[in-house]
Amino acid sequence: MRYPLVMANWKLNGSKYMVHNLIAMLRNKLSSVVDCDIAIAPPVIYLNLAKYHLAGSQISLGAQDVDTHIVGAYTGEVSAEMLKDIGAKYIIIGHSERRTFHQESDEYIAEKFAVLKETELVPVLCIGESEAENKAGQTEAVCASQIDVVLNRLSVKAFNKAVIAYEPIWAIGTGRFAIPSQVQAVHKFIRNHIAKHDNAVAQQVIIQYGGSVNAGNAAEFFMQPDIDGALVGGASLQADSFALIVKAAAQAKQD
Ligand code: PGA
Repeated sequence: MRYPLVMANWKLNGSKYMVHNLIAMLRNKLSSVVDCDIAIAPPVIYLNLAKYHLAGSQISLGAQDVDTHIVGAYTGEVSAEMLKDIGAKYIIIGHSERRTFHQESDEYIAEKFAVLKETELVPVLCIGESEAENKAGQTEAVCASQIDVVLNRLSVKAFNKAVIAYEPIWAIGTGRFAIPSQVQAVHKFIRNHIAKHDNAVAQQVIIQYGGSVNAGNAAEFFMQPDIDGALVGGASLQADSFALIVKAAAQAKQD
């Protein structure tokens, strides 16, 4: 039985005021939700403050990235041990914005996956095709190759207690969300791809959708059997919309 995970990716948004206020509102709105795992990934500078404001709630702390090194002369970086120390649980890696703006390769992202597993943190591995790849019918091939780099470097067991976020790049931050039935087909493909190596691992891996999820379209995504929650950018910056998305995921679980 898989629980959906709805995770807020604040990206480069936030302030001390927002951490305090948004988390207080979410705690209030989501206190009765039990059938959905919830996480918030603020910018790294606010992680500690967010942890303080989340204390005693069912909302987990997440982070948006991690370095591949644990300690040493790596100016500006944050290690998995530090994220663990601060109380973070779900760590986003391979987001398309990092792939694009920081030239992160599949191999480098697989290294991050490895370091998170060693530290017993939960990787949220973002994968997904560009618009051109989508139009060329390469969606499945792109997703498979992005997963294969992790499968080959580690093993299928690395996907035990891990999260995959399928995020078609053309749907991120554009308002042009993918069609839920088509997303379901991609998620099923991803699960089957992992099942070729280990069916038990494939059945428990959380596969989120991300890309312009909002309060209006969330329920239709969550009705799909292989869509286990969402990674939410823009709509996670408002308490009302994020709370409605979480509630839609919890409701879909009950139906
Ligand atoms: P969006 O971002 O919800 O603003 O499209 C999603 C993401 O990048 O994870």
